[in-house]
Amino acid sequence: MTNVLEAIKNRYTCRKYTDQKLTDDQIKKLVDAALQAPTAMNAQAFQLIAVTNPEVLAKLETSGYAVLPAEVKQRMDQRGGTLLYNAPAIFYIMVDRKTHPVFADLDAGIIVENLALAAQSLGLGSTIFGMGRFPLQSSEAQALIKELQIKDGFEFSISCLVGYSALPPTPHAVDYAKVTYIS
Ligand SMILES: Cc1cc2nc3c(=O)[nH]c(=O)nc-3n(C[C@H](O)[C@H](O)[C@H](O)COP(=O)(O)O)c2cc1C
Repeated sequence: MTNVLEAIKNRYTCRKYTDQKLTDDQIKKLVDAALQAPTAMNAQAFQLIAVTNPEVLAKLETSGYAVLPAEVKQRMDQRGGTLLYNAPAIFYIMVDRKTHPVFADLDAGIIVENLALAAQSLGLGSTIFGMGRFPLQSSEAQALIKELQIKDGFEFSISCLVGYSALPPTPHAVDYAKVTYIS
């Protein structure tokens, strides 16, 4: 396990995963990291869905790819022609915007970063994955909502792919021009 600053520094978006599955212990650690995230007023207005079932992953892959907008499809074709980058796990963070309208998505952002940093700390790759919404916009959406056991009133906020990276790390360059110091 790496410390937090190292995990923050070394995390990057993984866009190709090996075939290696995650263990139950790894999934448990990732789930714990997500559940330990703070939420505004401790509302915890989210549902976390940890998907490792290969058949369900295959359905997410196929149904999502089929509805990609043309320009996104072109990008994904160039990136290897998969939506989920062959990841063995996807975590869906669904939120209840009706009961927690102001902070539901901000909370989800913190949860997903916890997941990504926990993955990094465990030596795994991760992808914070907005495109996880596409399967839920496909013709298979109703069946998938059932299969993923999405609760009534919960909507997609963000998702996260996790697995063993098949590519070298490529963290983005930091831009110190973004910082204003008032010293
Ligand atoms: C909210 C959010 C949604 C993202 N969605 C996707 C996605 O659907 N697919 C993808 O390949 N990368 C996705 N990314 C990854 C970003 O493209 C990536 O973080 C950015 O290019 C910086 O690169 P780095 O993560 O390697 O530092 C997403 C990142 C964020 C924060």
